[in-house]
Amino acid sequence: MSRKDDKEADAFESDQASEAQIAVHWREEGYYSPSAKFIGQANASDPSINERFSEKNFPECFKEYADLLTWDKYWHTTLDTSNAPFWKWFVGGRLNASYNCVDRHLATDRNKAAIIWVPEPEDEDTEVLTYQELYVRVNEFAALLKGFCGVEIGDVATFHMPMVPDLPIAMLACARLGVIHSQVFGGFSGSACGGRIADSKSKILVTIDGYYRNGELQDHKVKADEAIARALEEGVTVEKVLVFRRNPGEYASKSPMVPGRDFFVDEIMPDYKGKLVDPVSMPAEAPLFIMYSSGTTGKPKGCQHSTGGYLAYVTGTSKYYQDIHPEDTYWCAADIGWITGHSYIVYGPLALGTTTVMYEGVPTYPDAGRMWRIAERLGVTTFHTAPTTIRTLRKLGPDEPAKYNYHFKHMTTVGEPIEPEVWRWYYDVVGKGEAVIVDTWWQTENGGFLGSTLPALNPMKPGSCGPAVIGIFPKILDENGDEVIAGSGRAGNICIRNPWPGIFQTIWGDPDRFVKTYYEKYNRDPKSTDWHDWPYFANDGAMQAADGYYRILGRVDDVINVSGHRLGTKELESAALMVDEVAEAAAVPVVDEVRGHAVEIYIAVKPGVNAEGVADKVSRMIESEIGKIARPKNVWIVADMPKTRSGKIMRRVIASISNFTDVGDITTLANPDVVTDIRHFVESEKVARGEQPRDLSAAEMESIVNFGSEG
Ligand code: WT7
Repeated sequence: MSRKDDKEADAFESDQASEAQIAVHWREEGYYSPSAKFIGQANASDPSINERFSEKNFPECFKEYADLLTWDKYWHTTLDTSNAPFWKWFVGGRLNASYNCVDRHLATDRNKAAIIWVPEPEDEDTEVLTYQELYVRVNEFAALLKGFCGVEIGDVATFHMPMVPDLPIAMLACARLGVIHSQVFGGFSGSACGGRIADSKSKILVTIDGYYRNGELQDHKVKADEAIARALEEGVTVEKVLVFRRNPGEYASKSPMVPGRDFFVDEIMPDYKGKLVDPVSMPAEAPLFIMYSSGTTGKPKGCQHSTGGYLAYVTGTSKYYQDIHPEDTYWCAADIGWITGHSYIVYGPLALGTTTVMYEGVPTYPDAGRMWRIAERLGVTTFHTAPTTIRTLRKLGPDEPAKYNYHFKHMTTVGEPIEPEVWRWYYDVVGKGEAVIVDTWWQTENGGFLGSTLPALNPMKPGSCGPAVIGIFPKILDENGDEVIAGSGRAGNICIRNPWPGIFQTIWGDPDRFVKTYYEKYNRDPKSTDWHDWPYFANDGAMQAADGYYRILGRVDDVINVSGHRLGTKELESAALMVDEVAEAAAVPVVDEVRGHAVEIYIAVKPGVNAEGVADKVSRMIESEIGKIARPKNVWIVADMPKTRSGKIMRRVIASISNFTDVGDITTLANPDVVTDIRHFVESEKVARGEQPRDLSAAEMESIVNFGSEG
């Protein structure tokens, strides 16, 4: 264990310190190799795949992905760059996404499970939709959308749905008709949904009366009323609200059905029973869906994804990186309300004709063994989740996985950097030492993976996502646009030099913002139609080690700027996690007269652990791992962190508390109650320590209330 000594810490505080010194405190880890058994069955086990997707074969290499699909009409141009950076893939080609995910499997796999749905209440039966049943239900819903709602090609339909099979059915029904779907995460507030309805100018809202979460039937339909009111304020009138019912014949909501506007799907469906609708042959570059990304600042960005390029990219990466085989039982335990669910629960796995598992509820309901019971019962082979869930499951049930007889061959982590310590628990305890792990780095904007190991070909290295995925050519640039030497271990802004089929097409309704946010920074000639002039700026910090593996340091705006030094929240938090007693850590900025900002750390300790002395240990660890400059102003030990329903710690909420400012909208929190407790504790402690609230300038306020990405 090499700790930074005082000399290094001093160097850090001088101007000589590089960001890499901040980044490298996750020591280089050793490699883990895939088992011979895994390699023997892998879809990509021949290293020639790297050659096939090498730069000299770009962009034609992506034909291999497109050829996994069934095209009505083959394309004539693989990549059209004439309107850079609005790339067009597979131009001239026509296909239908619903046909590719459903119809084409009927000939061989009609009776095979397409979707297995696990309701949250454990006494409710699991529901199995065969490909035939999925086909029938998608057709019926498409017929209803067309016949009852009068949708047309290119219309947008907004969904505000939880994890029930009606959601992928509705998505595939839209895709069948050439209607663009915009699914808003079910846990979002009605108002958040309304803002997205207005932005996309949807005339239709698809929702449900209720769903189960943590053992309770939620009233979800009330949110539709809020959403519609908000959309109306922004000038958009929703004409029809289609309401599914979670429990047939019952109504889980207190919200009245508005005559002429709100309709129960089960009441209008009889007219469309058994109806078939031909899949509409869509141009490859027709939009398939919009997915809003709630970045750190400004209004959410509607990321518009294409039909042909997107579907080809998620299918290809599902095959080689998720290593999906048709006979797998594949469980991506994300929510379809996020891009992960779109790409790796619905479109990728179904295009490959595998069995995809959906779970309605909370991973720890009714206890920390639930996930492993589902895995055992269904014989899940492939498991996909996020570091936040892994941390929670480790915290609440570190020994649970061993009690269940399941065997994964492949596991995925996505969404944020995973601490090596947490990675090892995932590998040893969840994976029982038998499963490969792919740590996949990408974004809502990207459609599919950008950085990951090819599971049978590249060894795993905890804390690093791995090399760029095939066909993706990154470089790391500094603020001036100069390249950071590849493999130097120095941090900078990671960019992708080339377009790829999964890249989003634009920000819905705001092409200028698209160019500005992702391309302007490093583009040297706005008139150029050569893709080499348009590196994609991911807005993520990263470093590349000598072995070519990338370590993603998080959004460049997720940094705390102390006296001009940019400290990554992840770096601070993972240093805190090196203290044995610590289960969770969150770093936030606190406005400081002298340094601009200082760091405050919130800590939750492991269950049954004595918290005494932990705050000091955390301070010392951060100082020794990162440097004196990062020493926290305060370390707060709290019982629980405020979290979104997707499990991300809401850093802006605790940042507001640390700065005595209003916490803002907390309606999307899974546990809003903890906010008051934390506020009382922190504010009274601060006052006791002689800190006083003061008025913040507009800029200071901005740095706090918008802190930390939530998406
Ligand atoms: C941001 C994108 C797209 C999947 C879900 C999140 C961070 C994502 C990793 C990873 C380190 C990661 C990045 C990225 N991120 N995956 N494997 N290692 N960081 O989608 O909400 O659009 O967030 O999540 O900072 O920019 P998203």
